[in-house]
Amino acid sequence: MSGFHALVPAAGFGARMGHELPKQYLPIAGKPMIAHALDTLCACAEIATVFVVLSPGDTQFHTYDWSRYGEKLQPLFCGGATRAESVANGLLASELEADDWVLVHDAARPCLTQSLLNKMITELRDDAVGGILAVPVADTLKRADARQRIAATEPREGLWQAQTPQMFRAGLLVEALARCKNVTDEASAVEALGLQPKLVPGDSGNFKVTYPQDVVLAELLLKRELQDSHAASLPLC
Ligand code: CTP
Ligand code: MG
Repeated sequence: MSGFHALVPAAGFGARMGHELPKQYLPIAGKPMIAHALDTLCACAEIATVFVVLSPGDTQFHTYDWSRYGEKLQPLFCGGATRAESVANGLLASELEADDWVLVHDAARPCLTQSLLNKMITELRDDAVGGILAVPVADTLKRADARQRIAATEPREGLWQAQTPQMFRAGLLVEALARCKNVTDEASAVEALGLQPKLVPGDSGNFKVTYPQDVVLAELLLKRELQDSHAASLPLC
């Protein structure tokens, strides 16, 4: 029977973060950034295995204690030069069945919530293609010319920002990434096969931590979540 698995590409260096530690290991709300996504994915009862794709030269992963995740967490030291290559290498190393669902989620999105994850699985589990979390574009969009002056205002109607997880059958994703290597997300590779992944409305809080100011925002959100869950567990008196 096919199951649900997660695959977390975490083999990048975080060049735009500009820190000597790869950004997935920067501390946020008391733990390395990557642990937030792994906590959420490992706590999801539907997900059988969480593969994390690390750089072959990774020196950080083993400096933390991951024993609380048990066998559910499977590190794979086969990251590539690009995110797409890391995902493709990880999929091959995972030895998943073609029919298995795989949810690819960035290590750099620590604010994914359990409810968003469950909503996505519920909406896509019977889908023929799969899909992604995404949010409708909220800002007005400007096209720049070579002098960085506004050349045009682009209509934002129908435009969505792609997030992760991106959920597809493992067999389809292996085929798509083998054919289309120059992509920044899995959906683009699946689209190149002529298929139309579904857009599942996500939450702007599930943003990707890219620049130093994003760490500050993620820290605020995650600390508030911790306070809320602590308050909810206190007895009423
Ligand atoms: N990633 C990966 N392998 C790569 C590049 C990126 O597994 N060769 C992972 C990152 O670790 C991250 C996710 O893909 O979890 C999203 O990529 P991004 O936010 O671009 O991270 P980096 O590539 O590390 O950052 P930058 O582009 O600023 O260097
Ligand atoms: Mg990158």
